[in-house]
Amino acid sequence: MEAIARAHTNIALIKYWGKRDSQLFLPMNSSLSITLDHFYTETKVQFSDQFEKDSLLLDGNQVTDNEIMKVTAFLNHVRNLAGTKTFAKVTSVNHVPTAAGFASSASGYAALAAAASKALQLDLTGTELSALARQGSGSASRSIFGGFVEWQKGEKTDGTDSFATQIIDEKAWDISVLSVVVEAGPKSVSSRDGMQRTVDTSPFYEGWLATLEEDLKRIKEAIKARDFTKLGEIAEANALKMHATMLGAKPPFFYWQSATLDVMQKVMELRQQGLEAYFTIDAGPNVKVLCEPMNEQMMKEKLAALPSVRDVIVCHPGPGIQYLSE
Ligand code: ADP
Ligand code: DP6
Ligand code: CO
Repeated sequence: MEAIARAHTNIALIKYWGKRDSQLFLPMNSSLSITLDHFYTETKVQFSDQFEKDSLLLDGNQVTDNEIMKVTAFLNHVRNLAGTKTFAKVTSVNHVPTAAGFASSASGYAALAAAASKALQLDLTGTELSALARQGSGSASRSIFGGFVEWQKGEKTDGTDSFATQIIDEKAWDISVLSVVVEAGPKSVSSRDGMQRTVDTSPFYEGWLATLEEDLKRIKEAIKARDFTKLGEIAEANALKMHATMLGAKPPFFYWQSATLDVMQKVMELRQQGLEAYFTIDAGPNVKVLCEPMNEQMMKEKLAALPSVRDVIVCHPGPGIQYLSE
């Protein structure tokens, strides 16, 4: 009745931004990401009839009632699948800043889905596990798999065809993803609230949606051809389009800080000078810079030299779910 799992975060190159069904976590569009080797969550789940409610200890701290409600809602899906009502004690450690735009919800819910389903001896396929993790956090559906991963939005209303699949594994194409830390504290607008407000109120949202199928098709061609330039150009433009949708929301909001712009401008400037790199940004102020491994060291030095940059963490494509218990 207990299990431990590790899941890595992922960085979206084609972003998930908006739900068509917020109960089932069904996205408006398909998305695509790279699972990262450096950032991960380890979660232990114990089910016992002795417990009177679910609990979550995150990085050694009891979380708020609101956080517990999210975990209980998620565990109810797992309990339904297993036909049990038993409560769980969840102990989790994030080897990634929490709620800061480094996709802790992706590694967090992927690890929780894997550990909880394993603890209840549900023998889920990768596809089933991905669809389960999706219901904790959309981006978690992609963290079940390593390497380059696509989350298909699916067509059905019950969500059974909305899960991720691996395109190529983590050894098939090495790309450097430099995580440029300008601020590691929690964001003021969660991804969940930010995307909902954008869908509900931004006149730019339709324009964003209209370009996604084409971006996705072209980036998959780039992955197949191992065409770094094409991949980088599509990813950077896709990230900028997503961030543009928020400026049209009511009330408007954005995740960037002045340091975010410093990094974006530096990447563009270096590119003009011949050092090829592209950036992408999730829902937070920190920037992820894509380059080829041969340019990684030089890129890291140039970015770390910016006064507003606190740290540069070098990542590469990483693995999918791992079980740390029998
Ligand atoms: P991020 O950029 O870190 O993904 P989000 O706003 O999407 O930020 O999600 C942050 C939320 O994810 C947290 O408030 C918490 O509810 C959830 N979360 C993060 N880490 C874990 C974890 N290890 N276990 C369970 N839930 C987690
Ligand atoms: C900008 O998966 O964190 O990082 O499904 O509400 O938990 P919820 O949101 P979340 O959103 C991620 C948004 C993004 C883009 C992406 O990862 O695709
Ligand atoms: Co998230």
